[in-house]
Amino acid sequence: MKIKVTPSAIAPIVRGLMLSRASFSCMVKTRPESFACPGERTNESADGPIDRRPEERAEEHIRLVLDGILPQSEIEDAELAQALQHSLTQPQAQAIRRQLRIGDVCLDIMGAAGASIALLDLVPLEPLDRRYQMMVQSPGDASLLSSASRASVVRGKIALVTGGAQGFGAEIARGLAHSGAVVWIADINLPAAQSFAQTLSSETGTPSAFAIDIDVSSEASVQRAFEIIALTTGGLDLVISNAGILKAGSLLTQPVQEFRLVNEVNYVGFFNIAQHAARLLRLQWLGAPDWFTDIIQINSKSGLQGSNKNSAYAGSKFGSIGLVQSFALELVEYRIKVNAICPGNFFDGPLWSDPQRGLFVQYLNSGKVPGARTIEDVRAFYESKVPMGRGCYGPDVLKAIYYLVEQVYETGQALPVTGGQVMLN
Ligand SMILES: NC(=O)c1ccc[n+]([C@@H]2O[C@H](COP(=O)([O-])OP(=O)(O)OC[C@H]3O[C@@H](n4cnc5c(N)ncnc54)[C@H](O)[C@@H]3O)[C@@H](O)[C@H]2O)c1
Repeated sequence: MKIKVTPSAIAPIVRGLMLSRASFSCMVKTRPESFACPGERTNESADGPIDRRPEERAEEHIRLVLDGILPQSEIEDAELAQALQHSLTQPQAQAIRRQLRIGDVCLDIMGAAGASIALLDLVPLEPLDRRYQMMVQSPGDASLLSSASRASVVRGKIALVTGGAQGFGAEIARGLAHSGAVVWIADINLPAAQSFAQTLSSETGTPSAFAIDIDVSSEASVQRAFEIIALTTGGLDLVISNAGILKAGSLLTQPVQEFRLVNEVNYVGFFNIAQHAARLLRLQWLGAPDWFTDIIQINSKSGLQGSNKNSAYAGSKFGSIGLVQSFALELVEYRIKVNAICPGNFFDGPLWSDPQRGLFVQYLNSGKVPGARTIEDVRAFYESKVPMGRGCYGPDVLKAIYYLVEQVYETGQALPVTGGQVMLN
């Protein structure tokens, strides 16, 4: 694939190289000086933990020279990755590994005729648990028979959660941050994302979250967000496409604009996220061809089973499973797994429990549940449909995420987490 030689193309490959050659997980932050050439865009940076004062910056300076490559030129991405790989010598990789144990490293990437291409800060993350990334090669491999402690599969990783400011997304982001991942909280509601990112950083006692403004239904917005991600953390390991909306309505009366809106966010939005995530993850893979990454869509039980007077939503979720399967087939080559999780109802989340606009209030007022007089009656009605007698919670979904990340021998699946309400054939 042809790309332009820019810091946002270089950073994910460098992160891949660090995962592969230096055996270290780090964020790769592009310094603003990288954009010093006239006419280049300035470096936008997200709210987050790794903007440092100059005196706190890396002591260790390493220079890589990419022979024959000019900044802003168009070349094959594999050629760029090869040039980066060749320029990083074994002693340099060892020096980086040593230095990352105690602090940051500054990587100065130069091109032909001494042209500066990018100035990158490598910022170390928690040590990775690499056991689960190993593929079973022969039956009875004892070292791989015991499952790694599930939550450790995301430690030291960089994750993105769309719609991460509230509801399931916030529960997922919280769980990932508490398990040692750095988390991008990407939401259309930027103030809520920013305040939640601060909350997570103070809860975990480390700067563990970034907030970023995104409208998943807008390609331009998604493209801009991924550019900022590439320039701020370099790459990603786990992408949770969670942002979604629900507009219930009868087929007989629902306006087509409402149908379109739901599909623009839930279905086209997933395409937008998966496309830009796949481009970034592929670049990172060029530097780390053994490294598995994950795109996980938070789907719904309504993606597996029709939903009465809720066809816009159910259709968008069914369709997304077709996307998951197709993306999985295409991206397996780059070790990018693509799966969906289909949760049951999150009764305690805002979608159901918001006192003004929540589904419990709406269903009570519209008389949808025969004989219900209170919100508790409506809740009891829906809970009684679940064999396990309760709604779904964030930690239920998190366990499924950890399983899908840990399981490196599966892709293209839709995993129900419904307390037995939906059973696969
Ligand atoms: N709540 C449930 O019972 C339930 C059940 C099964 C599946 N799900 C799925 O889980 C996901 C999250 O649902 P929830 O109930 O937590 O939702 P929610 O309404 O509580 O939160 C959704 C979040 O997404 C953000 N958002 C909305 N539109 C966006 C857009 N265009 N771009 C970026 N961000 C946007 C919102 O600002 C909000 O922070 C959805 O995909 C939903 O379909 C929810």
